[in-house]
Amino acid sequence: MLKLAAQIESAVQVVHDRWPVTPRVGIVLGSGLRGLADQIDIECEIGYADIPHFPQVTALGHAGRLVCGCLAGEPVVVFQGRFHLYEGYSPQQATLPVRLLKALGARMLVVSNAAGGLNPHYAVGDVMLIQDQINLMFRNPLVGVNDDALGPRFPDMSAPYDPHLQEFAVETARREGFLLHRGVYMALLGPTYETRAEYRMVRILGGDAVGMSTVPEVIVARHVGLDVLGLSTITNIGSPDAPRQITGHIVNAAAATAASKLSAIIRGVIRHFPDK
Ligand code: HPA
Repeated sequence: MLKLAAQIESAVQVVHDRWPVTPRVGIVLGSGLRGLADQIDIECEIGYADIPHFPQVTALGHAGRLVCGCLAGEPVVVFQGRFHLYEGYSPQQATLPVRLLKALGARMLVVSNAAGGLNPHYAVGDVMLIQDQINLMFRNPLVGVNDDALGPRFPDMSAPYDPHLQEFAVETARREGFLLHRGVYMALLGPTYETRAEYRMVRILGGDAVGMSTVPEVIVARHVGLDVLGLSTITNIGSPDAPRQITGHIVNAAAATAASKLSAIIRGVIRHFPDK
């Protein structure tokens, strides 16, 4: 685990050499949401290939760069591209960006993703505020010897998504006049989309939306004590009784249609996020 601390330290060094600023917030952009980085007043861009120990991005619609700058007047870093367990990365490797974010001095993580909708009230293009999560990946990034300097052996997960940040998000959606659902995100390993029987299972087990990411990052964020806001864009409906074929391209195109809602929520929450 000391090895992990050393990896984080060398990644921090590279970012600090290029951008000597303390970000308040880090934003992980999900599939089809890379356009959100255009909202940033960019001060510096660092390719993941230049950050020590960062794996390469292989997922469709993920750029693979760290964008540093200002959003809503606050210093932020945007992870334009994330690592998924289905790419073959270990849960520890896949969550290195979250550890970097904490080590840079940030206090809040915003995670976004594309997800299949199971809740019958959801439609393609809707946004769901993640209230809670279910880990059905059968992997956990905290397995192994714990480095107590990074976080506790047994982190509390009673409220992984910060209730205050959720309130700010709901207020923003209300003010801007668009629908914002609240629900449970369930993560499966992927990379296959679900069978009809699996979509039915996800719903029975309590999932409102299903995807292949986010949960490992949120576990690590809670380990290191970052406040988390999670947003899912509903890109397809996982209907067991009226199945539709789905592709990564359909998911990315649908995700892009909700980018303005996501951007409004993220700006609204950053503006409200109190100085501690
Ligand atoms: N299942 C899993 N991941 C997804 C889906 C889905 O239906 N849609 C977008 N990401």
